[in-house]
Amino acid sequence: MEHTAERFAARYGRPAAGVARAPGRVNLIGEHTDYNEGWVMPLAIGLSCRAAIAMRNDAGVRLGSGQYGEVAEFALDSAAAPGHWAAPLAGVLAILAREYGLARGADLWLESEVPIGAGLSSSAAAQAAVALAAAEAVGLAIPRPELARVCQRASAEYAGVRCGIMDPYIALTGRAGMVLLLDTRALTERWLAWPEAACLIVCDSGARHDHATGEYNQRRAECEAAAAALAARAPGVRALRDVSVETLARAQGAMDATLWRRARHVVSENARVAAAAGALVAGDLERLGDLLNTSHASLRDDYQVSCAELDRLQAACVAQAGVYGARMMGGGFGGCVLALARPERAAAVQAAVAGAAARSWICRPAAGAEAVAA
Ligand code: GLA
Repeated sequence: MEHTAERFAARYGRPAAGVARAPGRVNLIGEHTDYNEGWVMPLAIGLSCRAAIAMRNDAGVRLGSGQYGEVAEFALDSAAAPGHWAAPLAGVLAILAREYGLARGADLWLESEVPIGAGLSSSAAAQAAVALAAAEAVGLAIPRPELARVCQRASAEYAGVRCGIMDPYIALTGRAGMVLLLDTRALTERWLAWPEAACLIVCDSGARHDHATGEYNQRRAECEAAAAALAARAPGVRALRDVSVETLARAQGAMDATLWRRARHVVSENARVAAAAGALVAGDLERLGDLLNTSHASLRDDYQVSCAELDRLQAACVAQAGVYGARMMGGGFGGCVLALARPERAAAVQAAVAGAAARSWICRPAAGAEAVAA
């Protein structure tokens, strides 16, 4: 990781002009709420991706990755094919070229500690590092929330994943020791201090179900259909974010049962985020843990994005002494479980779930993306 600039020089035969670093993320609570214009509570973690860059005099791009062990080559305005690992990154450069005047191509080399497929947003970390490296290299001053929007759009337009803004947003804005309460409609931020008395354990289930992207886009489409059905009954509903518990209760039986359950997850999850913020401020970790457990049940039963491996791992986590609560994290269908625990119990919990988890990490809120010396 520290050797990103050296690897760049070895591969391309010239020095890097700059390096940017961006972290992976954990989402404390607020799952599948961001594309419904609701609230999320992510934090940046201490595992990062670094992107070394030097601009070129033509419109070519060479984008190499230590994790993937290869160099993708494409033209600045054409982007790599969807499905290719480089597609969401090529999309970032294509949007910067089209809308922000990035006129020349670049050579880039990426080194990342964020594991791929574990649900820690390795892709958003890489996008954020590439976006920041390119912007810094040509002196484009783009506000971080706007840069996050570029990354989100690149995923949708170039990689076919209609994701929300949470992952690139926290990668680009994270603060050490702080959790972000983000309103994804207004993009207003509230930063909450992480309590010393709690620690986060991320346990990788090792499961990676390859229908995850299709299911993700399908959930998003179901949410849009649910919002449209509810808007017909309650004027002012633009997204599930606007649906009250009462409106939802009245619609039961009057709309498609699956859509209703999807909506119930989102409406109840938004309420859990607000409750979790209150619990965090009050230092009520028991309450916060209960909210994580309820979130897991809602994701499993109403939203149906969990899987047997995640359910087993979540149960194994909550069975441990010193665990306040746990839930699956991220898009679902594999990836990881997040457990909230007493710090002094963390190592014992990691050891106890080692059979159900492929690997695990203890995470603390860390700083977001930054330019670092080449
Ligand atoms: C993925 C997406 C995010 C968010 C989560 C689910 O991580 O990239 O935008 O929707 O899933 O909360």
